[in-house]
Amino acid sequence: MTKKIRRAALAALLLGVSAGAVAAEMAAPTAPPEPPKFDAQTEPVYVNRSDIFEFKALPTYSEPAWVTDFVTAGKLPAVAERLPKEPLVYKAANMPDGPGVYGDVMRHVIGGRPEGWNFWAGQSYGWGGIDIGLVECLTRTGPLFTVNSTDLQPLPNLAKSWAWSEDGMTLTIKLIEGAKWSDGDPFDVEDIEFYWNDVIMDENVTPLMAASPATYNNATFAKVDDYTFTLTFTEAFPEQVLYAMAYGNFCPGPAHVLKPKHPAHGGESYEAFQNAFPSDYMNFPTMGGWAVVEHRPDDIVVLRRNPYYWKVDEAGQQLPYLDEMHFRLSTWGDRDVQAVAGTGDFSNLEQPENYVESLKKAADPASPARLAFGPRSIGYQMFLNQSANGWGEPDARAQAVRELNRNLDFRKAVTYAMDRQRLGDSLVKGPFTAPYAGGLMTSTSFYDPASTVFYPFDVASAKAALAAAGLADADGNGFVDAAAGGDLTVTLLVNSDYATDKNLAEGVVAMMADAGVKVTLNSLTGKDYDNAREAGSWDWLIRRNDQEYVSAVQNTNMLAPTGPKTSQWHQAGTDGTSDLQAYEQQLVDAIKAFTGTRDPAAKVEAMKTYQKVFTENVTAVGLTAYPGALIINKRFANIPAGAPIFMYNWAEDNIIRERVFVPGDKQLGAELHPATLPGAPGSAGPVAAN
Ligand code: GLA
Repeated sequence: MTKKIRRAALAALLLGVSAGAVAAEMAAPTAPPEPPKFDAQTEPVYVNRSDIFEFKALPTYSEPAWVTDFVTAGKLPAVAERLPKEPLVYKAANMPDGPGVYGDVMRHVIGGRPEGWNFWAGQSYGWGGIDIGLVECLTRTGPLFTVNSTDLQPLPNLAKSWAWSEDGMTLTIKLIEGAKWSDGDPFDVEDIEFYWNDVIMDENVTPLMAASPATYNNATFAKVDDYTFTLTFTEAFPEQVLYAMAYGNFCPGPAHVLKPKHPAHGGESYEAFQNAFPSDYMNFPTMGGWAVVEHRPDDIVVLRRNPYYWKVDEAGQQLPYLDEMHFRLSTWGDRDVQAVAGTGDFSNLEQPENYVESLKKAADPASPARLAFGPRSIGYQMFLNQSANGWGEPDARAQAVRELNRNLDFRKAVTYAMDRQRLGDSLVKGPFTAPYAGGLMTSTSFYDPASTVFYPFDVASAKAALAAAGLADADGNGFVDAAAGGDLTVTLLVNSDYATDKNLAEGVVAMMADAGVKVTLNSLTGKDYDNAREAGSWDWLIRRNDQEYVSAVQNTNMLAPTGPKTSQWHQAGTDGTSDLQAYEQQLVDAIKAFTGTRDPAAKVEAMKTYQKVFTENVTAVGLTAYPGALIINKRFANIPAGAPIFMYNWAEDNIIRERVFVPGDKQLGAELHPATLPGAPGSAGPVAAN
């Protein structure tokens, strides 16, 4: 019995009213429980952004000797001609182990599978760092975990600099000048124009991470010159858009190959556009450190260094240092196993089921891998679909569930039914997992426990809340009934690629059964799960949090239904409108207040309001939150201390892989395509100098 109910029962005794009547009260919400102390965390070395790199011309440049062979053979321009006027120069003082040497490979293991290379039409590369190694974006946020809070702003990247007009309505962006795609084609405003007009503004095209006009505050685009463009807004200083230009969103594709396939430029159809670069299409042009030269389905994806990469070290050595990247196509769980065993090089240890075994192995001084924990930034929530006007085209049963999902008492029933301690312990015992109220996570400085409403686990309260929502178990079979007859049945969509997601979903099913609600699982693998999720064809959904809940400043517009397609739990219905409830409108207003101000204190207040409204109304049901650990083979140098596996981005970006190297005496000699470079787009694979 919770304190509140006990007190109520006592009061009932004293007043002589029936205890049964008051037992139907719900337990009072509390402050969120204090997360268990977790000391194993490594701290980053904090710097200012300008300490990491600058854009400048150097007197000389160099490249691996085997790349010079291509130049000598007349197959490649000289390195100085391949680089931009002022390349991005990483400063030696910020490199944990200093400037590196060339060679070797990083052997990733991933659970995803590449669908094709048209990221801009929604194709997934299989995650696990493939896309992060291939696409580059206007700004960059991964390394921000190491930036002083007083200097916290996105890092320049393809956007070399930017400036706001005095009235704050126009943002002028200058691109890096003279950089080239991996096939030598110039990177310039043509690529931006294509991304803007034919991806963002074209309703028939949805890029992989669903960037839309709302992502950029519905800005108007204008070209100034080949390396300059402006975005004009209807509100002053929407600085948030600079974060929305980082990984996932403003990562332009190669217009010279994409454009001819796009229907607006003579392409056959949108479907043909999407499928024009299937996963066996090699050497797709990239701005990233590497390009894809081999894909053996269900086996491996191999990337080789991009000879036109536009970043160098202070000595003028063209980056990356690593010549090759492997992505073994296996499972996410196998990534942990292989990384600790030394047959793989890298893992984001994020599935707590593997923690004890991995920690044990990594503690052995002879272990080939280092394991370091970061902040508690991995979190899971269960979303309840709150569109009642057709998103995902629900049938009558599903529509009835949507109506319940929009009933606060029903949402309270779900949250009271969750024994978060037990859910966390079922993944791993120890100080890792913490009950999570939902909304912002403790990893963001915007998290405020005093603005977080926590509904404690209490089955009696869950039952009382079901009754308050008008649900009863007339046939006495232990499950509440649907209005249309029979048991109310809710389906829960879950990503079966991860053991953790499945285990949490099974826990939810059992706990909801205890409270009297029948839940059945719809377990789908990665891409099918994503398709169902994005289409809105689900009642409830379990999902590992993206950046918005972890950092608050990244993907901020996705924290609420700020646009027709921005939020996880509520997107526009069949007529294009969103039937927002009053509290959802308050969430939207809080996010708009946050993104619409430059005043730090006002931002803090806006997020407090957001968190209070979010958790009080059980917008989503928080499940568990825990720290992840980066496992990386000991032979790699320049791995920054305290790199979280997830914060502003995943560790594959956070560790700045183009700067990572392997000292000569530790190199494995495991390259599958030594002495070769990516060939022409669409051609068979890598090419040799002679
Ligand atoms: C998947 C993995 C993460 C990370 C990302 C990178 O989601 O689960 O650990 O590797 O891919 O995109």
